[in-house]
Amino acid sequence: MRKLLVTGGAGFIGGNFVHHWCREHDADRVIVLDALTYAGNRATLATLIAEQRIEFVHGDITDTPLLDRLFREHAIDTVVHFAAESHVDRSIVDPGAFVRTNVVGTQTLLDAALKAWRVDGLWRENVRFHHVSTDEVYGTLAPNDPPFSEATPFAPNSPYSASKAGADHLVRAYVHTYGMPATISNCSNNYGPYHFPEKLIPLIIVNALHGRPLPVYGDGRQIRDWLFVEDHCIAIEQILSADVAGQTFNVGGRAEHVNIDIVRRLCELLDARFASDATLAARFVECPAARGIACDSLITYVKDRPGHDRRYAIDPTLIATTLGFEPRETLTTGLARTVDWYLTNEPWWRSVMDGSYRDWISSQYQRTLT
Ligand code: NAD
Ligand code: TYD
Repeated sequence: MRKLLVTGGAGFIGGNFVHHWCREHDADRVIVLDALTYAGNRATLATLIAEQRIEFVHGDITDTPLLDRLFREHAIDTVVHFAAESHVDRSIVDPGAFVRTNVVGTQTLLDAALKAWRVDGLWRENVRFHHVSTDEVYGTLAPNDPPFSEATPFAPNSPYSASKAGADHLVRAYVHTYGMPATISNCSNNYGPYHFPEKLIPLIIVNALHGRPLPVYGDGRQIRDWLFVEDHCIAIEQILSADVAGQTFNVGGRAEHVNIDIVRRLCELLDARFASDATLAARFVECPAARGIACDSLITYVKDRPGHDRRYAIDPTLIATTLGFEPRETLTTGLARTVDWYLTNEPWWRSVMDGSYRDWISSQYQRTLT
């Protein structure tokens, strides 16, 4: 039986991971530590909390006494570290928050694990620290560049990716210096259920349902490698289950697409759902599809993000050959599942669109339209 500490478990990927782990590992104990920033939502874990399947701790990864107590009281043997400030656009406005959580927070968590797991220079058996990171640490690619491999040098371009690169270096240094049994995954863009509607895919769905403009930055030809979130959870599970301490794995979706293609596909999916389900027009009266008008009529090209990375792409060879990992969802099936999830889970996304969300979105519109 494993005892997991999942940081950031009320966020998008962390929340999906906690649901996945509880389904697949019935006997394990799961402690979720989350500061419930604007991006963290207790609602994501409500059923598991109510069933007492997990223990939810509202707290910060920079709080050393709290971390020491959690390691001691729960005899934690596995850390899965998702907690982070994760939105590039916000990192351009407020880099300090990113350094505090992503860099200082990761170092504080590493120290707590070191203190709990290493006694008289020897590591406890069967412990693992898994750090969840991003492909953005590698910087940007030109159209014909080979995809990022684990050996690609770091060249982060945004305050977000720079802070994640700092965290990755710290984890690597704890492996090298102290022999910490840690692993890292550098993953491409995730999408799926419980995704906060400030990121491209959920923002497009929610804006289309409200009949609001669908903002496409610059020329919309930037490329991302899209991975359905459940596939990412499976990749992390495989890394945790294998004897690979000290290793880094890149995780991708084998799904490179330009942004405008993603936006158009989402519009087509919404149009098709409204055409086949008359109840949607009554629920989402502001959506153009409710009046038989195509959602892509809302597409609006806006001012580009400063320093916008042009292309990310992952070479998934290492994780495929070492662990046999392959994504199960294609972009077509994954986007369809995502649109259906947002159509059937309106209370969840309405509950996260509070005053601070509305302030952020309107400040973005001011920035992009001027
Ligand atoms: P998210 O923003 O949805 O969730 C982050 C969670 O961390 C939130 O629940 C938030 O409350 C919590 N948190 C923030 N600061 C905290 C602190 N100081 N202490 C405790 N909890 C805190 O992010 P996400 O998209 O789920 O990303 C999870 C991880 O995966 C991040 O480390 C991110 O860098 C990485 N990642 C994300 C993507 C992606 O496409 N979303 C891709 C690659 C890697
Ligand atoms: P995002 O979801 O913010 O993820 P990341 O910046 O980490 O890749 O953005 C994905 C892509 O979509 C990125 O190229 C920026 C672009 N984008 C838009 O065109 N419009 C938007 O409103 C947002 C949020 C993103």
